[in-house]
Amino acid sequence: MATRVAFVTGAASGIGRAAAEALVERGCAVALVDRDDEGGSRVEAELRKSGECIFIRCDVTDDEDVQRAVARTVQTYGRLDSAFNAAGADGEKGKAVADSSIENWNRVITLNLTGVWSCMRHQIPEMLRAGGGSIVNCSSVAGLVGAPLLSAYVAAKHGVVGLTRSAALEYGRQGLRVNAICPAMIDTPMSRAFMDPEISEMMLSESPMGRFAAPSEVASAVLWLFDDANGFVTGQAIAIDGGWTAR
Ligand SMILES: NC(=O)c1ccc[n+]([C@@H]2O[C@H](COP(=O)([O-])OP(=O)(O)OC[C@H]3O[C@@H](n4cnc5c(N)ncnc54)[C@H](O)[C@@H]3O)[C@@H](O)[C@H]2O)c1
Repeated sequence: MATRVAFVTGAASGIGRAAAEALVERGCAVALVDRDDEGGSRVEAELRKSGECIFIRCDVTDDEDVQRAVARTVQTYGRLDSAFNAAGADGEKGKAVADSSIENWNRVITLNLTGVWSCMRHQIPEMLRAGGGSIVNCSSVAGLVGAPLLSAYVAAKHGVVGLTRSAALEYGRQGLRVNAICPAMIDTPMSRAFMDPEISEMMLSESPMGRFAAPSEVASAVLWLFDDANGFVTGQAIAIDGGWTAR
């Protein structure tokens, strides 16, 4: 694939880590961006055995931190071709809209929506300088359909889809593609923390495929979207959900 330098947020764990690993294995130089120092350094040490990567500590809710991380990536590898914006978390659970807190709302929107906007805002000028590129934003099935008792996360992830579509329209003629992926039921630390055995059982029984997916099954979709061979795909929100939203 043509991707040479990639920027992956949330690279210390789960889906971000799996995408970073797949990219390194295919010969890309990867900036592993995460706020988790220990996890990020560990992933860097592991992935360096198979290729080129650098861990950059960065909190995506801090716009200046994001600006520095993008600058460091370009300083280190000379350019930026692709970005997977995967850092995210679900926040307070089990509260209906009228019972939920403003603190949770602000935290969840700032991380899951403003964080993606902030990353794109600094990534795009570098990609345009490199002649174009491909951005994949991590939304969720919660960006395609509602989910009770999780309204801030659902609103943020719907926002990511809208942001993705708008950016795709703005930059299509400059060779920059922007897509979103919308996963569900991926086996990661986040989903394990979210699902007690009862919720897990319920989701498995309702899932058309009746199983959780490995993070690598999301990573392969990210790589597909990065690949220039799929250069006519932009502005899309692609569900990777074992058929969850097909009903
Ligand atoms: N696991 C699923 O089933 C699922 C489903 C739908 C969407 N998603 C989305 O996928 C993405 C990755 O989730 P995951 O399941 O791999 O979770 P995870 O908890 O395994 O990984 C999330 C990573 O993001 C990092 N992170 C969190 N806040 C950050 C911040 N402010 N700055 C920088 N890094 C930060 C964490 O340190 C962690 O390494 C998230 O955006 C999540 O909303 C996951």
